[in-house]
Amino acid sequence: MLAWQIMTTSSRLPGFYNKTQSERLQAIGEQAGLTPEELAAFSAGLSPDGADHMIENVVCLYSLPFGIATNFRVNNKEVLVPMVIEEPSVVAGASLAARLAREGGGYVASSDEPVMIAQMQILDLVNPHAARLALLAHKARILEFVATTDPVIIKLGGGPRDIDVRLIEDSPIGPMVVLHLLYDCRDAMGANTVNTAAEALRPMVEEITGGRVALRILSNLADHRLARATCAIPASALAFDQFDGEDVRDRIIEAYAFAAADPYRAATHNKGIMNGVDAVVIVTGNDWRAIEAGAHAYAARSGRYTSLSQWGKDSKGNLVGTLEMPMAVGIVGGATKVHPTARLALKIMSIQSARELAEVIVSVGLAQNFAAIRALATEGIQRGHMSLHARQLAMAAGATGDLIEQISAQMVREKQVRLDRAQALVEEIKSYLPEES
Ligand code: MEV
Repeated sequence: MLAWQIMTTSSRLPGFYNKTQSERLQAIGEQAGLTPEELAAFSAGLSPDGADHMIENVVCLYSLPFGIATNFRVNNKEVLVPMVIEEPSVVAGASLAARLAREGGGYVASSDEPVMIAQMQILDLVNPHAARLALLAHKARILEFVATTDPVIIKLGGGPRDIDVRLIEDSPIGPMVVLHLLYDCRDAMGANTVNTAAEALRPMVEEITGGRVALRILSNLADHRLARATCAIPASALAFDQFDGEDVRDRIIEAYAFAAADPYRAATHNKGIMNGVDAVVIVTGNDWRAIEAGAHAYAARSGRYTSLSQWGKDSKGNLVGTLEMPMAVGIVGGATKVHPTARLALKIMSIQSARELAEVIVSVGLAQNFAAIRALATEGIQRGHMSLHARQLAMAAGATGDLIEQISAQMVREKQVRLDRAQALVEEIKSYLPEES
């Protein structure tokens, strides 16, 4: 750990939900050791000038809520998890799941070395089989050459690791050979590094195969860069309201079985996982489309789309969850470095490496999945959703301060969570208030 970095002493922040935004920020600042300048950077966010350097034709900035999921313990480390998301209940759901998972020691996560795949499509081959063998025979030469394309990453301990050569016998244009270059990107997501390497390798591959290299691009199915998390939650911790703990556990396992067996359900089940995953991927300035693409391709790797997570029980009766998925995220380069809030998000989590970030993200995905299927399998999803939705409607109807809570509680009680009802309640309450002079 770097000397200036402060580790969160506890991610349990009781009452955090009831604090004001500035009190919450202060509490996070204290836990993460943020300087006054860093706290100020939160309010400032990305500058218009910074945005102009990120993409083209910028006209303004677009904001989303930045929340903190509490209670996370990942590999025995306390982690406050920043999440950027527009959907109510996600941050609360992750925090609840992490609180219950703590009862069993929290999340245990691991990850592969950060190895990305660059693909090279080789066409116009007289003999695709012979071309494949020729590439394998020249593996050492290929790897030696690729090691010269990015000296910085070599110095950091990364670089080309291996090749894999696939023969696709049947495609709309006939057979083709696909070379996979496996490249350890260390703390970078690695898209630029591997794309550059594949571009540079083109003449050598054409010379070895006698064919023509068409596409050179990374694969988002980063199945050499998997991250995995598991948790074991005692059945006793699962009891709530009228629900017995073992009953909740068994209902969660039934919910998982549905997703494991049915692609229609698996898509929604995995969407719940991605609610957690994407929120952390986005807050750290990583490419969430890449993560989405990799996740769903991985979920279909057997030829049938299925659940990314598994839920069962162990010999002690604990509910055991596991999640494994590609997690190509970086902590250097791109928006991760340029976006001031993304940098602070990494600092809040006290992340030291891309692998550590991947491990936290996959833990959050598992937590989010738990929260969703626990609610679905017991009280239903709408109760929690509705009270948050009601608050948004109350605000949209013009309620401020304490009125937001009063009006939303009233709508939930009446089971009439609608904008017109919120507007009527705001009008009604205003009519009791003294006229402003
Ligand atoms: C909603 O954003 C996510 C859920 O649909 C996930 C699930 O069904 O498991 C609640």
